[in-house]
Amino acid sequence: MTTDSHSTHVHAVPLKILIGVWALLCVLTWVTVLATKIDLGSGNIILAMAIAVVKSTAVALFFMHLLWDKRINAYIFVSALLFVALFISFALMDTKAYHADLIPGYAPEITAATAPGDAAGGGGAGQVAAGPVGIDRGRELYTTTCVVCHGENAEGKRELNSPALHQQEDWYLVAQLEKFRSGLRGADPNDITGAQMRPMAMALPDEQALHDVAEYIGTLSAPMPPLTLQADVAAGKAHYNAVCVACHGVDGAGMAALQSPSLIGQSDWYVAAQLTKFKDGIRGANPKDVPGTQMRAMSATLATDEMVQNVAAYVATLGR
Ligand code: HEC
Ligand code: HEC
Repeated sequence: MTTDSHSTHVHAVPLKILIGVWALLCVLTWVTVLATKIDLGSGNIILAMAIAVVKSTAVALFFMHLLWDKRINAYIFVSALLFVALFISFALMDTKAYHADLIPGYAPEITAATAPGDAAGGGGAGQVAAGPVGIDRGRELYTTTCVVCHGENAEGKRELNSPALHQQEDWYLVAQLEKFRSGLRGADPNDITGAQMRPMAMALPDEQALHDVAEYIGTLSAPMPPLTLQADVAAGKAHYNAVCVACHGVDGAGMAALQSPSLIGQSDWYVAAQLTKFKDGIRGANPKDVPGTQMRAMSATLATDEMVQNVAAYVATLGR
């Protein structure tokens, strides 16, 4: 081996060495493949990385002639390889320990161990298929974020202006949470109660959380709320059957196909408040909010506050 340092020097590596290195690479590749069949825990990563370092070192030293170059270059190259290997190993080990879902299927035993399915002891009323994971996560989100205002059974609270949710279908809950998050609802400076709800929707960590919390709310139920409005229910009924029935149905159950929600079991004061918001353009004014703009147009048929109260009072009798 020469230690001199003349770069113009052409060095031919003996064929024997080239073939030897090639054979070594083949054997090591074979070992790598074999090692995937044995479970060594994080040892698998370390072994794979060690083999990768040896292989790339051999390539660099012999095929790239680093061995016959200045020694310092070889040292730098090999230690760089070692650092990369260490970095990748630790990153992969971390992934397996803290972030089991980062690489799909990478750490199935951790994903299985942290799935709340069996830990939660049955999850209430025999919920199936769609996912005890979703409902359990939804329960946690609801009891930490929503319960203060919407109540234990999502019955709503008059003193906080928060509506009942338990009677509502999940598609509508999700749609409204999305609107609060995007600012299609609750962002108008005059929407005081909407502004209270909006940050709560924004606090939900991800899109799936909206579905999970809606799914959990679907398991709740509460009695019909008290009637609070003194109004002309008969006049309200007449107007309802002339206008509102087309989308919300005779029974008030709503129609998913029209994106019109159920009105059954909602508090009369909340229905009146929302009708007023639609009328005033505080809700449903954004052209991107297509269902909202449709409802807003319908609220215009309620010429006076008195009519709003009447129709809200009638709506509150539906389903009783
Ligand atoms: C600070 C009190 C508060 C908290 C906490 C809160 N909300 Fe609300 N929520 C409200 C109020 C007030 C409204 C009515 C907004 C309006 O007047 O337009 C509302 C409205 C809603 C609506 C619309 C219902 C409808 O019939 O259109 C949904 C859905 C909703 N909340 C879900 C949730 C969920 C899910 C959580 C937990 C992540 C939550 N809320 C947390 C106060 C709250
Ligand atoms: C053209 C169909 C249509 C008609 C007619 C209609 N609505 Fe609606 N309504 C909707 C849709 C769609 C929504 C959902 C709006 C949204 O996504 O924000 C809605 C929402 C509502 C809400 C809000 C419910 C909640 O939980 O926040 C109330 C209250 C309501 N409608 C009452 C009425 C009344 C009362 C009438 C008759 C005066 C009426 N609607 C007529 C389609 C309609």
